[in-house]
Parts: sequence; structure tokens; C-alpha cells
Amino acid sequence: MGELIDTILRRRSIRRFEERQIDEEALRVILEAGLYAPSAGGRQGVLFAVCQNREVNERLGRIKRANSSPKMATKDSFVSKEQPSIADDPEIKSAFYGAPTVVTLFAPKNFLFAAEDCAAAAENMMLAAESLGVGSCYIGQGWTAFDDGYGQDVLRLWDIRRDYYAVAQVLLGYPREGDAHPTPKPRKAGRVLRF
Ligand SMILES: Cc1cc2nc3c(=O)[nH]c(=O)nc-3n(C[C@H](O)[C@H](O)[C@H](O)COP(=O)(O)O)c2cc1C
Repeated sequence: MGELIDTILRRRSIRRFEERQIDEEALRVILEAGLYAPSAGGRQGVLFAVCQNREVNERLGRIKRANSSPKMATKDSFVSKEQPSIADDPEIKSAFYGAPTVVTLFAPKNFLFAAEDCAAAAENMMLAAESLGVGSCYIGQGWTAFDDGYGQDVLRLWDIRRDYYAVAQVLLGYPREGDAHPTPKPRKAGRVLRF
């Protein structure tokens, strides 16, 4: 119990990765955690597309970056100073930040709970990753990575059903050596309402 809470509290979004690929056994466990996540109606509709091809990940990440227009950081409003996001640093060219493993979570287009199912699976995966020393980051609006001709070719190559869409990506990789583990922002007060 204590260990689980420690893992939950310690997990942070990692965007600066080592080049080396993650351990295969760690990946297996992370995917298992995703497969065992809750799903609406127990339908297990989420598909986990694991890509470790650096060129493909780089190209999709650049497409996603090009299709994103985040509200850029200011002195008082930023995502992360230690692990900068595309909203913090306009020089970052890939929305996948060079992660060696990118897992795209696909779910049925016509399913009301597609996004929730993917988010639940992603959180399980990110907590499993944290417990194994693997860094992770949730990337929303996953479909924008495939929103051009190359992205569409990749979907065909991966044989993704046309009635499924990319809800999100989970980036995986080892945090860069020498980087301090990020400190969380203080929690905003008044968010727990008790009656
Ligand atoms: C729904 C959702 C979408 C997110 N999308 C992105 C994203 O597109 N790019 C990114 O770098 N981080 C993304 N994040 C990660 C958040 O920026 C991060 O969780 C937040 O800044 C809090 O930091 P922490 O995860 O280290 O606690 C997303 C997180 C969630 C929950």
C-alpha cells in the first residue's frame, strides 16, 4: 500500500530522455499494466500500438508538433521548467521529445468512453513505468500525429482499423542521466469538497 502511494506521488512527466531503448521486460510489464486497466463495460477496446522505430517516432512527433498551437509559457505560467514541454520551449521540434518508445492508444471512434478507457490505461502504464525506473509522459489529442499523408501511411502500415482513432500517446524512456527528478507544482487548495 505504502509503495503504491509513493509511486503515485513520485510520478512526474518526463520529456528529456536517454537515447538507449527501454528494457524489454520493463516494456512487457508496462503493457500488462495497461491491459489490466479498467475499461467501460469491461469491453477492453483499447489497442496499444508500440513503436520503437526512431525515424517513425521522430516524423510523427514532428507532425504532431506542427499540428499543435499550445498557449506558450510565460514567466508565471509554464508547464515544466525541469522537463520543458512544447509550450515551454519553441525550439522543441517533436511533440514526442525523442522518446525511444511511443505507445499510441487507439479506441473505437463511435464509443462514448473511448477517451476515458485510454486515459485509465495510460495512467496504469505510467505508474508501472515509474515503479520500474522508466520515465513517461501522457500526450493528448493523439490523432494529430497522424494528420497528414505520412501519418495516414503509417496507420495503413500498422493495419489500424479505420473505425478506430488515436486518443493519446504514452512516451516511455529513461530519464536523462544527471537530471534531477522534477518537483511537482504545489497542489491547488480547495479542490476537495466534502459534504
Ligand atoms: C489529458 C492530458 C494531456 C496531456 N498532453 C500533453 C501533451 O500534449 N504534451 C506534453 O508534453 N504533456 C502533456 N501532458 C502532461 C502534463 O503536461 C503533465 O501531466 C502536467 O504538466 C503535470 O505534470 P506531472 O505529470 O509531472 O505531474 C498531458 C497530460 C494530460 C493528463
